[in-house]
This record gives sequence, C-alpha cells and structure tokens, in this order.
Amino acid sequence: MFREMPLYEDDPIESMFVRLAADRSPDRMDLGIGVFRDDEGRVPVFDAVREAELRIVRRGESKSYMGPLGNLGYCRAVERLVLGPEILAQEERSVISAQTPGAGGALRVGAEVVRSLSRESRVWVSNPVWPHQLEFFEKPGMTVRTYRYYDRYESVLRFDEMLEDLAAMRRDDLLLLHGCCHNPTGQDLGLDQWQALTELVSEKGAIPFVDVAYQGFGQGVEEDVAGLRLMASRVPELLLAVSSSKSFGIYRDRAGMLSVVVSPGARVETWLVRRLRDFARQLYFMPPDHGAAIILEILTSPDLEDLWRSELDGTRLKILGKRRMLRNMLETEVAGFDASFIERQLGMFSCLPIDSREQRLMEELFHIYMMPDARANVAAMRTSDAQVLARAFRELIGRRRGDGLRALGGTVG
Ligand SMILES: Cc1ncc(COP(=O)(O)O)c(C=O)c1O
Repeated sequence: MFREMPLYEDDPIESMFVRLAADRSPDRMDLGIGVFRDDEGRVPVFDAVREAELRIVRRGESKSYMGPLGNLGYCRAVERLVLGPEILAQEERSVISAQTPGAGGALRVGAEVVRSLSRESRVWVSNPVWPHQLEFFEKPGMTVRTYRYYDRYESVLRFDEMLEDLAAMRRDDLLLLHGCCHNPTGQDLGLDQWQALTELVSEKGAIPFVDVAYQGFGQGVEEDVAGLRLMASRVPELLLAVSSSKSFGIYRDRAGMLSVVVSPGARVETWLVRRLRDFARQLYFMPPDHGAAIILEILTSPDLEDLWRSELDGTRLKILGKRRMLRNMLETEVAGFDASFIERQLGMFSCLPIDSREQRLMEELFHIYMMPDARANVAAMRTSDAQVLARAFRELIGRRRGDGLRALGGTVG
C-alpha cells in the first residue's frame, strides 16, 4: 500500500523547513517557527511555569483521564484572563468553553461546530493569512473568503479595503480576527476599528471568531484584549480561540481554549457542551492536561500570577527592543529606507517588503529562512541575526537598483 503512494503536493511551509534542515551553514537563521528566543538563541521557560510544575509534582496529583472537554478549571481561569470579569458577569451572556490542544485545536473544533449547524456559513480570513488557519476551516468543508488587510509593499493596514470586502458578509458567516499581534503582519486594529467591525458584524448578522494567540506580547495583558472585549460585550454571539503556547511559553504542552459566547438558555448551553465534547472526542479524544494544569496553578496562586505577569512583561519589552534594534540596523544599512513599520507593529511577526524571488535569495545568499509572504519572526532574532538581515537587505536593494526594479517598499530614495 505505502509503496504506491503518490508524492505529497508541494507545501510551501513544509518545503521551507526541508530546505532549512538541509542547510548545513552554521549561520542559518530560522525566522519561521513562532517562538520567542533570547539573545543566546534559547527558548526560555518562565520561572512561574517551573515553580507551578514543582508545586503540582509535590502535591502528587493524579494523572487520571480528564475527559474530552479537558481541564474546566483552566477554562474558567483563562476566560477571566481573556474576556475579563465584567463580560463574565453580564447576565445576558453565557460562555461555554472547552480546553483544547492549543488554539489550533480550538479553531478546528470551532469550525466543525459551526459547520454542523450551517452548511451555508463561510469564513472570512485576512490577506495575508497565517496559512495553517486556512486548513482548520477548509478541512471541515467551509468556504473560505479573504478580505484585504495589509499592504506588504507599503507596510500599511488597508482598513477601508477590509470594510469594502466585508460588506459581502452574509448572516452566519464567520469573521476571523486576531485579538492582537496579527500573524503574519504584526499590524493591529485600533479600538475605533474594532468598534466599526462590531457595527458591521451586527448589521450583517455575521459572527466574529477571534483568535487570541499573543496576549501580553503587544501592549500589555489587558491592553491586548481591549478590542476583543469591546466586541464581545456588544455582539450577541462570538467564538474565541485562545492559545496559551506563547503567553506562557509552554508551546509543546498544547494548552488552549475554545469558547462560545451566546445568550443564556438551557437548550443552547446543553447543545454546545455536547457538541464541543463530541467533536473533541472525534478529532483527538482528549486534550493533554500538563500545560493546562500549570496555567491553572499560576492563575490561582497570586504569587505565581504576579511573577508570570512580570516575566511576560519582560518578554514583551525584549520584543519591542528587538524591533527597535532591527529598525535602526535596517535604516543604517539602507540609506533612505523607512523601516518604522517594524517598530509600529506588535508581537512576533512582521512581513518584510520583499517578493518571493528575493525571499529565496535571502535563503541562498544569507541562510535566512522565513514563512511565505516574507513573514519574519522578529522575536526570534538575536542581535547578530538582525545585523545579517540588515546586510541582506542592503544586498537586495543593490540588486533591485541594478535590475531597475521597484524601490523597496516605495520608500527608498
Ligand atoms: C494567530 C495564531 N493562532 C493560533 C496559533 C496556534 O497556537 P497553538 O500553539 O496554541 O495551537 C498560532 C501559532 O502560531 C497563531 O499565530
């Protein structure tokens, strides 16, 4: 059977990682995978996480099954962290949640739940998009539509165009938004734009599905979810996918949450609990508990929560520092290049204003590997990496000028 298998179609992400693995240069730079690295290139573990693990081990807790809905204590704590106590206290709102294997699991289960209710619902995703996000919706058979979001060559948000495209949303369509630190662009919406989208989804009868993967990496733990909270307090229904991978640095432990915010009612609540449980069971049976148990321990122990918040804020400030450093190096190496977008954008990723041919040259000449759309993980960059990247840019600009190509980002003199 397996000898006759057809070749797997070329997947741009997988093939980038294959080229990266085959590159034997000691200078090779992985700006693809979404992890924070310190200046020694390590992916650090928060002290709060280590201490929570120790406390759990000392208590000798059971490792018995938790069930398909996972750790519901974790869900209550994360609902509070993300949605905040005011929304949870609103009588006209009920929140039904399941712990999932990361936000990836939450997006997939959420897509299945919506698909099981409506074959007509489509999902609207940003262009550019985090490519894996598409698969979570395509696999259950949903139609995917894109809305313009960001211009990579001008390095600006295209909000008017976004509204223009979203005017075609229909009742029960899903509008996929990123709570903060948009992946792949790092370009976030302002509060007035969240407000405009809240009005638009309400007018169209569409349902926001907000993916929160970087809370605390942008402007702060509370600030990063202000837009989401504004929307969640005003729309009748909303889906939420939360990742604990980055904010707690527990990437491989796979903790996340899917929540459905609805008007209260015994019927809808029972139906949702059953549906979440059934789809979780069918897709992966049960989520792992280790990461969820750590986060529950942190969020219910005031000393650990304080420690985690200060470590997370330290990480946030380091990312801002890396962004400032990269901007300065780019502007020093390439005279006339306005790299202010790097500092304006938030979180791990930014899209560099280069095309796919130039991205390939970055790999071949400088061993710099990024995701499609020149999506670069700025938070993984060491000082030495930023220097190499800036030199690579200078080389590309020189070639562009030599080739008579368009100026970089339209901003190079
Ligand atoms: C926007 C977004 N959502 C979800 C995820 C997946 O997160 P998790 O590791 O929790 O599955 C990522 C990871 O890169 C992401 O960027």
